[in-house]
Amino acid sequence: MMEKMLTKTPALDLPTRPRRLRATPGLRRMVRETALNPADFIYPIFVTHGQQIRNPIASMPGIAQLSVDEAVREAEKTAELNIPAVLLFGLPAHKDPVGLENFAPDGIVQQAIRAIKQELPELVVITDVCLCEYTDHGHCGLLDDHGHVLNDETLPILIDVAVSHADAGADIVAPSGMMDGMVAALRGGLDVSGYSQLPIMSYAVKYASAFYGPFRDAADGAPKFGDRKTHQMDPANGREALREAALDVDEGADFLMVKPALAYLDIIRQLRDHFPELPLAAYNVSGEYAMLKAAAANGWLDEEKAVMETLTSIKRAGADLIITYHALAAASWLR
Ligand code: PBG
Repeated sequence: MMEKMLTKTPALDLPTRPRRLRATPGLRRMVRETALNPADFIYPIFVTHGQQIRNPIASMPGIAQLSVDEAVREAEKTAELNIPAVLLFGLPAHKDPVGLENFAPDGIVQQAIRAIKQELPELVVITDVCLCEYTDHGHCGLLDDHGHVLNDETLPILIDVAVSHADAGADIVAPSGMMDGMVAALRGGLDVSGYSQLPIMSYAVKYASAFYGPFRDAADGAPKFGDRKTHQMDPANGREALREAALDVDEGADFLMVKPALAYLDIIRQLRDHFPELPLAAYNVSGEYAMLKAAAANGWLDEEKAVMETLTSIKRAGADLIITYHALAAASWLR
């Protein structure tokens, strides 16, 4: 019966049949446009004071706040998986209005940089340069008497932070606070301190996003009042992203970044097209990680397939580098 129906199906005059190239795994592999590689990944690490500490972060299963010794072990795993870089965030022992530990020679991030570089000189150590994890008010800059985030007054502190990270041996500094002029300020401050060779990875395009929620538990950096909407970008704005990126290019940024990644794949693509000469990073942020982990934990998604599809989409959109909490898992799946 079935056979009869099939033989009666008239041949269509279809010269183009995309299915021809999807017929076998070999063919699909030959025409695959985007390939993930461990060299695409940057792995974030949260460093905290103490010894042998791994404080799991409830909203980010698999991620923990690590003491320096444990951070070195995590960095070793990263290097073994052929991932080229880690991105360090610090949890200070004390917080104050300025965030003094942020630029202290023995601050938590400075200790971690030295320990990691001593053990793994080849691993690229990138550091977050911002105030929010260190200030008692949780804002990304100094505040005036009305609680407003000051711009120009914050820049010298960012310079002190970046130079102290460079002194400790950081390979790249990544300012994330969205202060105007932060890249120019850091470039100038690093240059006069003898670090003209130290690259700046600018969080050029960073949106005021709901997807940073779990990170703020991880890094204990939630603002104690208000929000970040006076400096981070409005999620509704795309053209403004090009303006932000152009400024950072002018100011001397060596890398551009879009953050978050998933709700902003169109922005990644626009930056890739408008600034083809600069390496482009995308930050697959904590909330994006938490969504997939939660769905996978419930058995609603196949974790490996969903993660790899997600990371592939970020690369396909135009990112050269993906900062992701999935880095270790993804690199081991790629093996
Ligand atoms: C600020 C900073 C944040 C993230 C990275 N750097 C939080 C914020 O801007 O509120 C978020 C990263 C993530 O969600 O994974 N220093």
